[in-house]
Formats: sequence, structure tokens, C-alpha cells
Amino acid sequence: MTMTKVNIGIIGTGFIAEILAPEIQSSSKARLAAVSSRTLAKAEDFVASYPGAVAVEGADRLIARDDVDAVYIATPTSAKEDVASRALAAGKHVLIEKPLHSSESFKRLSALALKKGLVLMDATHFVHHPRTSAMRQHLAALIGAPRSLHTMFYFPFSDRENIRFDPSDEPMGAVGDMAWYSMRAVVEYLAPDSFEDIKVFAERDPQSGAVIRATGVLKFDAGKTATFDVGYTAGAAVMDLTVAGTSGILTQDDFVLDWKSGFGFDNPDIPTGFIHRSGMATRKDFAFIETPGEKSQHGLMVDSFADLIRNDDDAARETWLSATAKTQGFLDAIWRQIQARG
Ligand SMILES: NC(=O)c1ccc[n+]([C@@H]2O[C@H](COP(=O)([O-])OP(=O)(O)OC[C@H]3O[C@@H](n4cnc5c(N)ncnc54)[C@H](OP(=O)(O)O)[C@@H]3O)[C@@H](O)[C@H]2O)c1
Repeated sequence: MTMTKVNIGIIGTGFIAEILAPEIQSSSKARLAAVSSRTLAKAEDFVASYPGAVAVEGADRLIARDDVDAVYIATPTSAKEDVASRALAAGKHVLIEKPLHSSESFKRLSALALKKGLVLMDATHFVHHPRTSAMRQHLAALIGAPRSLHTMFYFPFSDRENIRFDPSDEPMGAVGDMAWYSMRAVVEYLAPDSFEDIKVFAERDPQSGAVIRATGVLKFDAGKTATFDVGYTAGAAVMDLTVAGTSGILTQDDFVLDWKSGFGFDNPDIPTGFIHRSGMATRKDFAFIETPGEKSQHGLMVDSFADLIRNDDDAARETWLSATAKTQGFLDAIWRQIQARG
């Protein structure tokens, strides 16, 4: 049986919308139906590269369209809940950019999605790469029980005109932008049951007041701990992850955007996978476990969003909701610490 494609409308015409649009357009499971901007001319410019996609002024007009089954919300965080709740109320499935404003905000949205029988999924790319499920699947056999996880995620970035430097658009700054991935890695690989303690240090941009760097440690149940170090200030792209277990460790040096085809990178000669180390092994003994993906992780995300809609599998839908809620919960804990320290 061939299933019909999911008609997706994009809300917002910024940086990440430009990255996702070609993946939606080229997916065998989805189609780019429409794009909305607060400024019609911007939507018209955007759709010029996508034959068949309609330009619309304003999110409400896009949400009201009968030829839109689902929306991808690519706006700043400050606008996300308002747009998402209107889309869900109108019966549209939602793929929403990370981070959310807060756990409370996400709870309101997920309650609405469940009530309306709609899909709500956050737009974290790396969880859709087969590497993530392979790591999870082999983790216990390779390293025993996971005990600590360390992530370091930096991008050189200093454009003060960008939303990341505007706390009214992105209240959590680099924490919402970058530590989101650290916390998602905690959810995926450390998988704690409950959160117990936290300590965080942050650096703010003196001009904008935006958080541009943060370092911290979280303690969970069963002695599990996570350390993270994220920001825009290291002068280099760093995406390091280490999971230490009771009998070995697993590492990645591209855990957020794989060097091979994560957006911003295009290196067909750098295989995607993870490294396993145990005992007194030196670098020449490390085992690289390759986990190829059939296409880019953001392309795979579009396909899994479409599958979630088309398969009508409540348990699968709730698995994604639960991962988002946990990620946002840990992010909120980091943010509360930063706010408490001023
Ligand atoms: N998943 C990922 O890998 C990834 C990567 C990058 C960014 N992101 C997230 O995606 C979000 C957007 O980031 P970006 O880099 O794409 O930002 P951006 O380039 O500034 O784009 C945001 C777009 O949203 C619209 N917009 C701006 N202010 C708005 C408002 N107040 N109300 C409604 N719409 C508004 C604008 O489009 P119009 O002018 O056309 O309305 C703007 O172009 C951020 O929260 C960021 O963390 C995720």
C-alpha cells in the first residue's frame, strides 16, 4: 500500500527553515505545501526555489489552509508556544524547533496534542540518526552500566544581530541553543530516572546580557552524573561526547551534527559512528563502530515525523513527547541555577 505524503507548511523563513525545506521537499513521505512569513515578500522569495509550495502571509493563514496537514515551527523560542497552540487547536500536527520556553509551556502543548490526537515532536536532528539507536542498543554490552556522561558543544559565533544574543527572542541564550543537546544526550544515553542535584556557572555577553557560555554538573539517581560545557566562545566547533560505564567508554566527536552530513558539514569521507575504549588501550587500539545513515539526520527527522503522523501509533508518539519533556526539564533546572546566581 502506498501512503499519501504529509503536506507540511513551514512557519518562519530564517536560517533553520532554509535547512529543512529541501529535506521536506525531497522526502518520499512529505511534501512542502506552503511557507509563511510575517512579511509576504519573504515567503515569496523563499518558495521560489520550491515549485508547488505556496507563499502565505502570517502563521494563521498557513494554519487555516486545508492543504496543510502539519506545520514545522522555525521561529524564535518566544513565539513558539503561541504558534504551536494555534496550529494544534486547528488540527495540525506540529514539528517544533528546540528549545521550548519551559517545561510548563511544553506540558500545555503536549496536553493539547494528546487531546486532539495529533503529533508533537521537537526538531532535534541527532536522535534520528541510526547512530543514536545503535549506541543505545550496544551500550550495556560494550561499557556495562552508564555512570557518567560528558558533553562539550561549542560553535564560534558572535553576531549580535542574531536571535541568540537577544534574550527577548531566546531567553536561555546558549543554554537553550546548545545545552539542549547535552541534556538530550543525557536522556538518550544516560537515561536517568530522576534528577537530584546541580551546579552551573555561566558567562553573559556584557552588551546584550545573553548567556554565551555555561559549564555545569548534574547528579541523578543511582549515582549517575553528567557534566556539560557549551557556548559560542571557544573559537572552534566542538561536539564531543563521552559516556563512561562500568567496563569501558564510548565517545563521539560529532555528536550533534555528524561531520559527514549534519547541516553545516559535508564530508562524505568521514564515516559516522562512535569509538569504544576499554582497559589500557592506546589510540591505536580504539574500536570505531561505524553506523551509516541512508541520508542526512535532518532528512531522517522529516521522515520520522511523517511516519509518526501516518502510522497513528500512540506509544511511539508518547515516546517522543516523553524525551522532549525530560530534556526540557533538565534544561529548566540549569536555567533556574543560572537565574538564581544572577
Ligand atoms: N534543530 C536545529 O538543529 C536548529 C538549528 C538552528 C536553530 N534552531 C532553533 O530554531 C529557532 C530559529 O533559529 P534560526 O537560527 O532559524 O533563527 P532566525 O534565522 O532568526 O529565523 C527565525 C525566523 O522566525 C521568524 N520570526 C522572527 N521573529 C518572530 C516573532 N517574534 N514571531 C514570529 N516569527 C518570528 C522570522 O521569519 P519571518 O520574518 O519570515 O516571519 C525569522 O526568519 C531557534 O529557537 C533555534 O534554537 C534549531
